[in-house]
Amino acid sequence: MAKIFSLPINPKLSETQFIEFVEFCDKYRDYISDLYFTCRVPPFTQDAMGDVFMSEDDPQYMIDVALYIQEKTGITASATFNNISVRPTQENLDLWIESFKPVYAKGVRLCTLPFNHWLMTGQIQKEFPELEVRASILMDTKTPTDVYNVVTSGFHSVCIDRALMRDHDTVKTIVKIKRKNPFKLVLLANEGCLGKCPVMSEHYHYNNTRTTDSQYFNNPISRVSCPRWDVTNKAVVLKTADIPAWKEDWDEFIEMGVDIFKMHGRENVKKIYESMDIVRNYAQNKTMLYEIDLKINEHTASKWRKIIKTCKFECWSCNFCDRVAGGKLDNKAPVVADILVTSVNSDFVTTVPGISSARIDKLLNELGKISTAYLEVGCLGGRTFCSTIAGNKLNAYAVDNWKEGVAAVNESINMTVTKEDFVRNIFPYKGENTIKVFNCDFIDVDKTKIKDIDLFLYDGDHSYESTKLAVEYFADTFAKECILVFDDANWQGVVDGATAGIQKAGLTIKYEKRMLNDIEDEKMWWNGLYIVVVNK
Ligand SMILES: C[S@@+](CC[C@H](N)C(=O)[O-])C[C@H]1O[C@@H](n2cnc3c(N)ncnc32)[C@H](O)[C@@H]1O
Repeated sequence: MAKIFSLPINPKLSETQFIEFVEFCDKYRDYISDLYFTCRVPPFTQDAMGDVFMSEDDPQYMIDVALYIQEKTGITASATFNNISVRPTQENLDLWIESFKPVYAKGVRLCTLPFNHWLMTGQIQKEFPELEVRASILMDTKTPTDVYNVVTSGFHSVCIDRALMRDHDTVKTIVKIKRKNPFKLVLLANEGCLGKCPVMSEHYHYNNTRTTDSQYFNNPISRVSCPRWDVTNKAVVLKTADIPAWKEDWDEFIEMGVDIFKMHGRENVKKIYESMDIVRNYAQNKTMLYEIDLKINEHTASKWRKIIKTCKFECWSCNFCDRVAGGKLDNKAPVVADILVTSVNSDFVTTVPGISSARIDKLLNELGKISTAYLEVGCLGGRTFCSTIAGNKLNAYAVDNWKEGVAAVNESINMTVTKEDFVRNIFPYKGENTIKVFNCDFIDVDKTKIKDIDLFLYDGDHSYESTKLAVEYFADTFAKECILVFDDANWQGVVDGATAGIQKAGLTIKYEKRMLNDIEDEKMWWNGLYIVVVNK
């Protein structure tokens, strides 16, 4: 038995999940080297995972939680300071030492830091003689020389670049450094990211400098990266920087000289459960440590396992994964993911007044091009409705009760319109579309003649209940594949209401993306969007 797994403490676990996690750690303590947690003491107030703590007390709470589990299980608590946008100055080093003193005094004996300069001063070693210091993954240690430099600066263990999992020769060379300079070699194991991801460092940079804006994957800029690749590239599953599921592939790293697998899941609850499964399966000596459908046959899989030991993720020259990738892409999901990226460059503009923004107009107009039947709830003066139908050929249904005026929260717009205003506004855009208008509450719409809706926009009342009800009510009018767009996703209840409605209606999510920006930003996607492709 070897303590080979470094597991994260996830601050988002419910009480029951937390108890389960602690019991799990206790049971598998012989396999767990340490439990790492985000530690925020000055000057580290943010880190590469990008989560924003909600209250002043949270950072101290995480330290207490880590110490509690350490005491309960005997597993080392590991304080993680993963932010290279903190400046590596003498002042910041002195500040960190002062801030870390109480944490050390309470019993933390392992930490991850990102600066060679700081270790080279010897101050940390002098102040905290029992502290093991791990070199952060953010130090970009890719080559034997990088590792040698980090080790000789004073680090006791080193997280090497995750891409090295596909470069066994370099790992073997790195291990040779241990002969004269003993250190623990740490390899990331199950991040789920594309190997040599072209935006990895920018993603870290986004997180490191994040304050009040949305998490990376909720920000519109992330529409160009993994959420898109996942649905547009069949080879992603083969090019992901995860160690293959076979236990013997993990053991091969241990035999090579890797000491610890750093497991993922510090922010993502699903991921921490996946990490726990891997540890459990390893302890139970299972052949496969996790379930995955590589979508290739057994013969190709064994070829793949061999090739990726030394492919270095140099996909541009190898192309093996692209050549053998199996499975099928969905129909609509890749197109929608592409449109989310490209529609900002559309030349479409509308002059119809409404509560929206140019980027939403462009997006809807592009989505209208790939659709045949459109239903919109919450049309007001017709801005979003016109954007979708303009120049397109849709069976379009407009639903609104035109009961009361609507105002933007920021007071930039205040509109009261009637059905007649709506009809007058949309008339010039009718073109080849057929249009049916329902002047009633959406729940009173006669659905008997509505069918095959493949584009649905919900922009009515944005409460959880109303959003959920709208999906449930119109689900039987949806085509086999349908694009759902929910406006004002910034508001509490919109995304949750939408997903609850989707679940209740028994629809399957094939693709989803949040595009959240500042509240009612007319230069962005107004008040945020939630876009989902569902199958019946
Ligand atoms: C924010 S506005 C929609 C903005 C519009 N999409 C645009 O392009 O400007 C919300 C609209 O939803 C309508 N609405 C709210 N609750 C509704 C309901 N239960 N049934 C039908 N329409 C509703 C309101 O009358 C209002 O016109």
